[in-house]
Amino acid sequence: MARAHIAAVALVSLLVLLVFKAEVEARRHGALRRRKREWILPPTKLLENVDYTKRVSIAKIRSDKDDEQRVHYTLTGAGADKDPFNLFIVNETSGHVRVTGILDREKFSVYNLTGIARYSDGSLAETDIDLRIRVIDQNDNSPKFGKKFTGSVNESSTLVTQVIATDADEEGTDNAKIAYSIVKQEPVDPGVMFYIEKNSGKIFVNDAGLDRELHDLYTLTIKATDMDGAENGNSEIGTAEIKILDINDNPPRLEKDMYSGNVDENTDNVVVMRIKALDDDLVNTDNWLADFKIDKGNEDGLFSIETDPKTNEGILKLIKPIDFEKIKDLDLGVSVENVAPLVVGAGDRADIDFGLDLGLDLT
Ligand SMILES: *[C@@H]1O[C@H](CO)[C@@H](O)[C@H](O)[C@H]1NC(C)=O
Ligand SMILES: *[C@@H]1O[C@H](CO)[C@@H](O)[C@H](O)[C@H]1NC(C)=O
Ligand SMILES: *[C@@H]1O[C@H](CO)[C@@H](O)[C@H](O)[C@H]1NC(C)=O
Repeated sequence: MARAHIAAVALVSLLVLLVFKAEVEARRHGALRRRKREWILPPTKLLENVDYTKRVSIAKIRSDKDDEQRVHYTLTGAGADKDPFNLFIVNETSGHVRVTGILDREKFSVYNLTGIARYSDGSLAETDIDLRIRVIDQNDNSPKFGKKFTGSVNESSTLVTQVIATDADEEGTDNAKIAYSIVKQEPVDPGVMFYIEKNSGKIFVNDAGLDRELHDLYTLTIKATDMDGAENGNSEIGTAEIKILDINDNPPRLEKDMYSGNVDENTDNVVVMRIKALDDDLVNTDNWLADFKIDKGNEDGLFSIETDPKTNEGILKLIKPIDFEKIKDLDLGVSVENVAPLVVGAGDRADIDFGLDLGLDLT
């Protein structure tokens, strides 16, 4: 009987508790609405690198419940009870928040702290209070190139390469807005060969045009300045090395317009002449290598010509014996081009006049 009584009392207590809890919930919702009106603190803004540690407070959290009872304030979140620990501390009784160190926006740009208000018995006095601290950027970082840039460009194109520096200051602000300029070009001649687009860092060839046959490598000293290049900006120097690639802008030339030589009767498979091609393009490339043709006087197929790739000479061979009874006069024409198509100009040609001799004379 006593047991049944105790059980009944317990059930009634439980019901009372549930009703009470529902009431507390309702009050909490009321508190939330009230909090919306009174306790949403505007974000606190603090400059990086500035010493606020002597200030009594940089923000204040407060519950108006402390009119009725003593309220104890604590802070939670990164910067309080999480790394970086105790950068922000709150006076337990007044709710004043102090900062204990100097802030660096490039490490943490915002601290989302939560203020907690409790009664002396540990129960929550207030729904948690958001305290957001935003760190305002200062221009304390120079642009950084981080590497040497290399680019290559052929003699006729215009876009060379792009250099990029990074700046740790706040993106989208002048503190991180980089302007590029070329401060030095080596070699200096034959003029200012490149320009750089101020904000993109793209390097272009000036109209002057490049000539690999003059210089095949340029070294540019590039400056990156934040504050969009203003005088008070931070600067960094970098290097871009630009290799000039060959194009076939030099046609092959023959040393002479007119060659003369002799051929023997009744001989064949002999070299009768070597004709040298001169070319300023890059040696041992198809822009330099000559391609010879006999364009006149070889109707009977007596001669062949091929290139000696080491010397760039045309090796003219007599490949069939000549019958001096039938042929009185040998007048060949030889033309030369490069293996690669020419970008500028045209190939060369020469005439070869052979005397018909008994002696073999390689002129
Ligand atoms: C906290 O604030 C109270 C009230 O302003 C003050 O009396 C007390 O000295 C402060 N405590 C500390 C540790 O600063
Ligand atoms: C701080 O809170 C805001 C809004 O909730 C969020 O966008 C941001 O990512 C948070 N920052 C950190 C560092 O937790
Ligand atoms: C030079 O480079 C440009 C751009 O890359 C290209 O369009 C052009 O064909 C190149 N010219 C030669 C001769 O290689």
